[in-house]
Amino acid sequence: MAGASTFGTVFVAGSGFMGSAIAFLVASKTSASVQIFDISDAQLAKAEATIEKFGKTSVEKGFLTVDQFIDAKKRIHATKSEQLAAHSDLVIEAIAEDLELKKDLFKRLDNICKKEAIFASNTSSLSITSLAAATKRSSQFIGMHFFSPAHVMKLVELIPGCDTSAETLEKVKTFGEELGKTLICSKDFPGFITTRLGLVLINEAAFALMEGLSTAKEIDTGMVLGYNHPMGPLALADFIGLDICLHILETLQDGFGDPKYRPCPIIKQLVSAGHLGKKTGKGFYDYGG
Ligand SMILES: NC(=O)c1ccc[n+]([C@@H]2O[C@H](COP(=O)([O-])OP(=O)(O)OC[C@H]3O[C@@H](n4cnc5c(N)ncnc54)[C@H](O)[C@@H]3O)[C@@H](O)[C@H]2O)c1
Repeated sequence: MAGASTFGTVFVAGSGFMGSAIAFLVASKTSASVQIFDISDAQLAKAEATIEKFGKTSVEKGFLTVDQFIDAKKRIHATKSEQLAAHSDLVIEAIAEDLELKKDLFKRLDNICKKEAIFASNTSSLSITSLAAATKRSSQFIGMHFFSPAHVMKLVELIPGCDTSAETLEKVKTFGEELGKTLICSKDFPGFITTRLGLVLINEAAFALMEGLSTAKEIDTGMVLGYNHPMGPLALADFIGLDICLHILETLQDGFGDPKYRPCPIIKQLVSAGHLGKKTGKGFYDYGG
């Protein structure tokens, strides 16, 4: 059976890439009931298929028994109804990276959820304090930044906002440990620890390419073999999506008001051309798509 859970019912908002992996992670590692919510029927159907695939792979690799997977699946419920958040103890939001969209959702959920429920956002770069301010529960609001794929990656970055209480942080830390994660804590400044450092490296690699310092392949090989990074920064940018990288760099530049975060013109140019990386078949590299 899955382990204990600090939160009996977890409502995962957004059933995309991150939301489906987070829902699977929570159901497979803890005894919580999990509701996975989306506005799109197609996304919910895709999430159910993705969760099935995650489960099969986890069973094949020996991380879960068949019975544990059957038990986890029974506790995952896909829904298009926000109202089902009413009984949840924890909301983990993983919808699109858009401040206004997220604020609107949190505002609505604030009216639906019980008073004691804790809200967490999986945002990679947006201000937790601003998101919390859209609700009347800023002391029970926190950033809970998972990495992709969430059920495999060891790290969770916790980001208390300006008004997050020590009790909320402690509860979410305990839950993160129940999920088997290593937790780091960052103050709520743009990009936190991981997004800021990751994007600075990607941007600098793009500037190096633009200056003709070397080829994309050699820049990446330098970081893979010289620093033991599993993937070079330009290949990583293609994997993340160049539109997402550009958006985050703009958030860093706006948030700090510092030109050191100005997005490299090559990234802007590739995005304008529709070359967003692996998902479009072309970015810093050509994937033949
Ligand atoms: N992709 C990554 O590697 C990664 C890593 C860490 C954090 N994040 C963050 O996680 C969040 C989600 O990213 P993703 O890659 O899973 O995106 P995604 O586009 O795969 O999924 C987003 C989902 O949200 C749904 N959605 C949009 N508006 C909604 C609303 N109002 N209510 C409910 N559902 C809504 C969409 O239908 C979609 O299914 C973003 O904030 C992103 O920055 C992503």
